[in-house]
Amino acid sequence: MEIITAVKGFKDILPEETEKWRFVENVAREVFSRFGFREIRLPVLEKTDLFKRGIGESTDIVEKEMYTFLDRGDEYLTLRPEATASVIRAYLEHSLHNAQAVTRLFTIGPMFRRERPQKGRFRQFHQIDAELLGLDDPRADAEIILMLMHFLDRVGLKKVSLELNSLGCSSCRPAFRNVITEFLQGKEAGLCDDCKRRLGTNPLRVFDCKSKECQEIIRGAPHLGDFLCGDCREHFGKVTSALEEFAIPYTVNPGMVRGLDYYTKTTFEVTTEHLGSQNAVVGGGRYDRLVQELGGPDIPGIGFAVGFERLLALLEVPESASAPPPDIFLASLGEQARNLAFTLCNQWRLKGIYAEQEFSSKSLKSQMKKAGRLNCSYTLILGDREIEERKVELRDMKTGTQQTVSLDDLDQHILNLIKER
Ligand code: HAM
Repeated sequence: MEIITAVKGFKDILPEETEKWRFVENVAREVFSRFGFREIRLPVLEKTDLFKRGIGESTDIVEKEMYTFLDRGDEYLTLRPEATASVIRAYLEHSLHNAQAVTRLFTIGPMFRRERPQKGRFRQFHQIDAELLGLDDPRADAEIILMLMHFLDRVGLKKVSLELNSLGCSSCRPAFRNVITEFLQGKEAGLCDDCKRRLGTNPLRVFDCKSKECQEIIRGAPHLGDFLCGDCREHFGKVTSALEEFAIPYTVNPGMVRGLDYYTKTTFEVTTEHLGSQNAVVGGGRYDRLVQELGGPDIPGIGFAVGFERLLALLEVPESASAPPPDIFLASLGEQARNLAFTLCNQWRLKGIYAEQEFSSKSLKSQMKKAGRLNCSYTLILGDREIEERKVELRDMKTGTQQTVSLDDLDQHILNLIKER
């Protein structure tokens, strides 16, 4: 019978990888908490309208990539394609804004987008997402970027670029929209069908289109940066000077619009040359209208999401992030010895020791080989004869020395040895 495999674009994370995942998560938790961020855990399923309203109806994500289905209760539900809309839904639903004026939240978990799977692009992927709500101060933008860059540095990510842009606000973007519409209207015939349609609904999306023809056309387009209002220009200037104060290198990428509609003012991506076409490891930006658009009060926000798989693909995770070897391996010869090994092994585990034992009746030689392979610190050799004599052999695997220990003192002896290390 054929085995049933995982769904295309959905990956298993095997034990040798989970250690690296935990290492990255631990660094994120430690760094983020020092900046005052608290963890929130959210459901993966939300009402479809949350993303339609939040991310925008004419984005690729909402138009083509969401896993949406009609639930038995006749309600459209969607596997979350990103975390920001869900964080704000929870923030509003639980009135977190009433408890404090500034709220810093982070969440780690799977997201779902039905994109074409390829290197660095999956249908279930994971994000480390951080959101700072309640501050429109440009120093908040710099603070969250500083935290992000510090986190990337702490996990050991090298050779990345931070790209920044400003997408303006509701007072300067409409004017730019007219400019870009006029520019694209002259070139409409060369645009892909999606962008022809977007020309009427959301012309800025053309900047983000993956088709080569559209990319070629947009290369010559005017940039939003040249049409920013005084307030947005000043905001951006303050963000960049705060980043300079912390010696964070950045480049301004005036063509970066991001793939979600909620952004205002500062947007940013962290990119690398080592991921092929999927070069963004992190995406983020300010969204001063989103909380209101999701039915809440006028509260500004800014955040980012790190693509977990993309980050891991770039990392050399330190040795300390791999599974620790057993403290002790119990080799046993004979049925009585195996019974004792089973008892001791599990008693020691209950006392906080990592112990492994051999269940099969393999030769002592092959059990010793296994102990070596496991890289354990000590091996205990138990045979039926030794048990009768109430003495066992304990080998220190690092020095190769062996000593005889009385069965009566064994428990205390092992506890002392291992706990003292
Ligand atoms: P995003 O740019 O759509 O932004 O995604 C952020 C990151 O998630 C990307 O830079 C990438 O590393 C990773 N990612 C996205 N799609 C995939 C995929 N199909 N396979 C693997 N990795 C992927 C957001 O999601 C925003 N919510 C970020 C944000 C938070 N903005 C403000 N707050």
